[in-house]
Amino acid sequence: MLITALTAACFLAAYFSWSYSLKLKSVNYLPGMRPPLSAISAFGALIPTSWWNPGLHWSWEWRKTNYFNYKHDVISMVPLIGRPVYYTCSLPVMKQLLKEEGKLGHIKPTEMTDAVLVWGQNLLSANGDVWKRHRRIVAPAITNETYELISQQAAALYEDMVRAAKWENEQVVTVNNINQYIRRFALGIISRCGFGLQMPWTDPNTKNTEEEMSFPTAMEWVATTLVPWSLVLPRWSYRLPSKWLRNMEHARSSLAEYMNTFVETKVQEISGVTDGDDHAQRGDIFTRLVAGLDRSGKTGLEKQEVIGNTFALMFAGHETTSSVLSATLGYLAFHQDEQEKAYQEILAATPANGELGTEELAKLTHTLACFHESARMIPAAHVIPRDVIDDVAVNVTSPTPGTIVFPKGSRIIIDMVAIHHNPETFLDPEVWRPSRWYGVSEHDLTMFSTGPRVCPGRKFAQMEAVSFLAHLLRDWKIDIEPRNGETRKQLEERVMGNTKFIGLAFGVRPVGLKLIARK
Ligand code: HEM
Ligand SMILES: *[C@@H]1O[C@H](CO)[C@@H](O)[C@H](O)[C@H]1NC(C)=O
Ligand SMILES: *[C@@H]1O[C@H](CO)[C@@H](O)[C@H](O)[C@H]1NC(C)=O
Repeated sequence: MLITALTAACFLAAYFSWSYSLKLKSVNYLPGMRPPLSAISAFGALIPTSWWNPGLHWSWEWRKTNYFNYKHDVISMVPLIGRPVYYTCSLPVMKQLLKEEGKLGHIKPTEMTDAVLVWGQNLLSANGDVWKRHRRIVAPAITNETYELISQQAAALYEDMVRAAKWENEQVVTVNNINQYIRRFALGIISRCGFGLQMPWTDPNTKNTEEEMSFPTAMEWVATTLVPWSLVLPRWSYRLPSKWLRNMEHARSSLAEYMNTFVETKVQEISGVTDGDDHAQRGDIFTRLVAGLDRSGKTGLEKQEVIGNTFALMFAGHETTSSVLSATLGYLAFHQDEQEKAYQEILAATPANGELGTEELAKLTHTLACFHESARMIPAAHVIPRDVIDDVAVNVTSPTPGTIVFPKGSRIIIDMVAIHHNPETFLDPEVWRPSRWYGVSEHDLTMFSTGPRVCPGRKFAQMEAVSFLAHLLRDWKIDIEPRNGETRKQLEERVMGNTKFIGLAFGVRPVGLKLIARK
């Protein structure tokens, strides 16, 4: 008995060391991390980051020492269980990989995009020719008219928010969780400006009944709970007798129903247009997507794809922006001088009638820089994963100048947290300093990626953020209450260092703020 067990153990050990040596060889013995579990596997990600397990948060938790103190542009992570992966903290490597990715044909790993595929193929998850078709229809659907609409709707939504929260007659308001409000705001903007859904503002603290789940609640459940958990939970588990799982299934089916209804309604609306004017011309993003149903081949979308992209835009369009916007408010509260600068800039741009249209918002360069700097510190899109279909060589400068070849089939994680905290690229990376973005061209806004798959919602997010900040900062001075004898510096490290994944986006945990009326 003992002999059998020992023999089995020996075989197992021999097998593991043999397969492990193959894994090391597959990455050409490139130095890096050798953990038991892969950080991108379900188990590895579920276990918190600690000395033996990198987990989901290693890049953030170890941001000052990662990549051997940023002395290596590329490292390998070779786990005992799971596949080896390359990680890069280098902006030049990111650019080399992504600039020509159309030609190189990299693919987004499906395991990492399955979660957003539930409602249909879409721009976020598609690859190859399918991606090209989606990109051709979806990206140009965001137009200058969309930005005009954002400036109008942001003003309206801000007013609704203040009224619903009963802040208008207060001198000082204490908000325990500003993130909640911002998430509602961001979902409201994408719903109104992308999809023409005039959702009224509902207070994030009101609870829904189980029978009837409102659209924002369903979307929030899906975005913050279902999508991340669906990467881990098997399908059958949704039928287990658990209230939480039942709610999740309820959210999934409610959202599917809502989106189906949106599409049906829009189809009827469009077919009702008989006066011959080009409806896609004057429409919102959604009208343009649905108009794609009329066409076939290279410029058309199937109904399920319209629904898929509806979800993709709603999801990508609110999680990321709201994460960065919450972080921006936190940083502004800690940096009163920068906030004052933004306030003065906003006052100077405000015309006599008080209205802030796209023209006025375009003048708010410092306010926008505050948003960009927060997106650098806490990048909402924390990784850009790619599998290469051919050997790909990239030039590196660290630890020594040379070339690294990623063999065909290998997986590379472009680590956006590490890139944006790399002292080679950003001097004093731990300091929040908006001025580093002054005059930087749109091309060089690294947090929106680069190349053919660059974020098509960049300007959407910028317009939304600046508009929200302009209205909020004009009315309120925002501050943060120091607690238990901490200095403001210590408090900043504690509050802003406390991050997590909100759905699939990376962001700061709930920030509590004090709003002091400006008048
Ligand atoms: C601060 C806000 C945002 C940040 C930091 C951000 C960042 C990014 C990044 C880094 C990518 C590339 C991902 C990859 O290639 O793996 C991306 C793609 C994408 N983003 Fe954004 N994004 C933001 C806001 C938005 C908004 C508001 C929308 C929609 C209105 C949007 C829609 C998309 C879509 C559809 C893609 C996929 C594009 C493609 O693969 O062709 N994003 N975003
Ligand atoms: C959209 O607006 C920008 C800036 O105002 C302008 O440069 C651009 O030409 C406009 N695009 C179209 C298609 O009108
Ligand atoms: C790497 O450097 C070599 C020599 O300078 C150059 O020919 C090549 O194009 C570079 N590769 C990339 C991907 O930039």
